[in-house]
Amino acid sequence: MSTLTDEIARRRTFAIISHPDAGKTTLTEKLLLFGGAIHIAGAVKSNKIKKTATSDWMEIEKQRGISVATSVMGFNYGNYKINILDTPGHQDFAEDTYRTLTAVDSVIIVVDVAKGVEQQTRKLMEVCRMRNTPVIIFVNKLDREGRDAFDILDELEAELKISVRPLSWPIGIGEKFKGVYNIYENTLDLFTPDKQKVSERVEIDNVDDKAVDAAVGEKEAAQLREDLELIDGVYPEFDREAYLKGQVAPVFFGSALNTFGVKELLDCFVEIAPAPKPIEAVERRITPDEEPFTGFVFKIHANMDPNHRSCIAFVKICSGKFERNAPYKHIRSGKILRFAAPTAFMAQKKNIVDEAWPGDIVGIPDTGTFKIGDTLTSGEDLHFKGLPSFSPEMFKYIENTDPMKSKQLEKGIQQLMDEGVAQLFVNQFNGRKIIGTVGQLQFEVIQYRLLHEYGAQCRWEPISLYKACWIESDDENAIANFKRRKHQFMAVDREGRDVFLADSNYVLQMAQGDFPSIRFHFTSEF
Ligand code: G4P
Repeated sequence: MSTLTDEIARRRTFAIISHPDAGKTTLTEKLLLFGGAIHIAGAVKSNKIKKTATSDWMEIEKQRGISVATSVMGFNYGNYKINILDTPGHQDFAEDTYRTLTAVDSVIIVVDVAKGVEQQTRKLMEVCRMRNTPVIIFVNKLDREGRDAFDILDELEAELKISVRPLSWPIGIGEKFKGVYNIYENTLDLFTPDKQKVSERVEIDNVDDKAVDAAVGEKEAAQLREDLELIDGVYPEFDREAYLKGQVAPVFFGSALNTFGVKELLDCFVEIAPAPKPIEAVERRITPDEEPFTGFVFKIHANMDPNHRSCIAFVKICSGKFERNAPYKHIRSGKILRFAAPTAFMAQKKNIVDEAWPGDIVGIPDTGTFKIGDTLTSGEDLHFKGLPSFSPEMFKYIENTDPMKSKQLEKGIQQLMDEGVAQLFVNQFNGRKIIGTVGQLQFEVIQYRLLHEYGAQCRWEPISLYKACWIESDDENAIANFKRRKHQFMAVDREGRDVFLADSNYVLQMAQGDFPSIRFHFTSEF
C-alpha cells in the first residue's frame, strides 16, 4: 500500500454533537485522555457559551479564544489518527455546526439519559440525515436516575428517525447502576465512580457465565439476560454497511464524567467508523486516494485582536497530500497561493506542519482571501458542493448610522458574511439590506465587530419575516410571473439567487399552492 492509502485508512474525522449540557465537552475530554493528548481531566476548557437568555457578548469574545484551540483536536490512538472537530454549544451558532458537519466523515451524538432527545439534537440529526452521515449514539449520565433503556431506544428511533442497535447495555441505573455489558465484544465492565480511572473489567466467557451473577448480583444478572434476549429478538444484528449508509445507529451507554463506557465506545468507533470518503464536486466525484491535493474551507475564525484583522481559515483535506509551500490554486480567484505557515492541531497544540493527509484539517492564516466554501486544488478547476445555507430564523434590516463610514460598513458586512457569521439578502423592491441569522446573538456580534474591527456603525430595524426560501423552477415564465406578483417580497442572496421572503407560514403555503411549478427550498443546496 502506498503511504497515501495507509494514511487515509487510519484516519477518523468526526464531530460530537449534542444538546447543551448532555455531556459533549466531558466526553471529548475523556476521549483525549485515552488518546494521551491530555493527562488529567479538566484540561479542556469548555468552549460552550453560557446559555443564559441574555448572553454577554464580551464573555463570548473571551470564549472564542478558547474555541480556536479546541476547534480541531487531533491525536493518535493505537494506529489510528483521530480528528475531533468541535462544534459550538450555543444554539445561536448552529450554522457553524452545520458547516462543520460537512467536513466530518461521521458523528457521535450524546444524549442525556434523563432528558432523552432534545431539540438541538433533533435539528442536528436532520443535517446528518441530509448527508447520510453515519452516527453512533452515546447515552450519557447512567450514574443518575433516568429513563428506562428500552424507552430511550424507542425515543431515539422515533425522534431521530433512524433505526438503532444497542452495542452495549446498562445494568441498572442511577443509584443502582452496576455496569455495562458490552454486546459488541461480550465483555462486562463494572461501574466504579471515578473521574480519572478506567472501569474494572470482569473476565467472562459470555453473559451466562456465573461470574456475571457474582459481579452484579443474581437478580440483576437475570434481568440482563432477559434484556439481551429481548434485544436480540427486537433488533437485527448490527450491520456495519447499514451504519455506514446512515441507516442504523449503534447505541452505547455510559457515564462520561466517570470515564465509564467511553473506552468501549472509542474502541468500537475506530473499528467501525468510516475513513475519509469520496466527496462530490460540481464537476465530478473526488476520492481521497487521488494523488493531486484538493480541499475546501469550511470555517473561518476571526482573530480576537481587533488591531490585527487576521483570521484562520480551516481547510479540510479531501484528497492527496497537502504540503507546506506547495503551489495551490484558489479556484474562486484563480490565483496560485503558497502557504508558508499552515498549522495542524495535535494533542492540544497548534504546530506548523509540512504535510497533512485526507481527513486532516489545516489552519491557514488569512487576511481576507478566503470565503466559506472556497476550494483549493493542485490545479484542477473544481468546486466542492455541500456547504448549505439554511433559511435563517431571524431577520433585520441593517442601516448605516455613520454616513462617513459607508465604505467601511460595506466592507465589514462583506467580510463577516464571507466568514459565515450570517446571511445577507438584498430586497429587490427597496434595495435595503437584510441580515438573516439563526439567533439574536449574531446581531450583537455583527454590530460589535463592525464597530471594533471596521470602525463602522449600524443600527437594526425590525422586519417581520417567517422564512427566506430559495425558489427554482423549470418554467421560466412561472418564475417571472411569481417575481412580478411578489415583487415586494423578492430578494437576492450573495450569489444572486432568487429568494422569496415569506412573512408568515400562511403566505408561504398560499404561494406554494398558487405556484405548483415552483420549488421552494429552505436550504441553498438543492
Ligand atoms: P455539554 O458540553 O454537552 O454542554 O456538556 P458538559 O460536558 O459540559 O456537561 C454538562 C454537565 O453534565 C456538567 O456539569 C458535567 O459535569 C455533567 N456531566 C457530564 N457527564 C456526566 C455523567 O456521566 N454523569 C453526571 N452525573 N454528570 C455528567 P456542570 O455542573 O454543568 O458543569 P461542571 O461545573 O461540572 O463543569
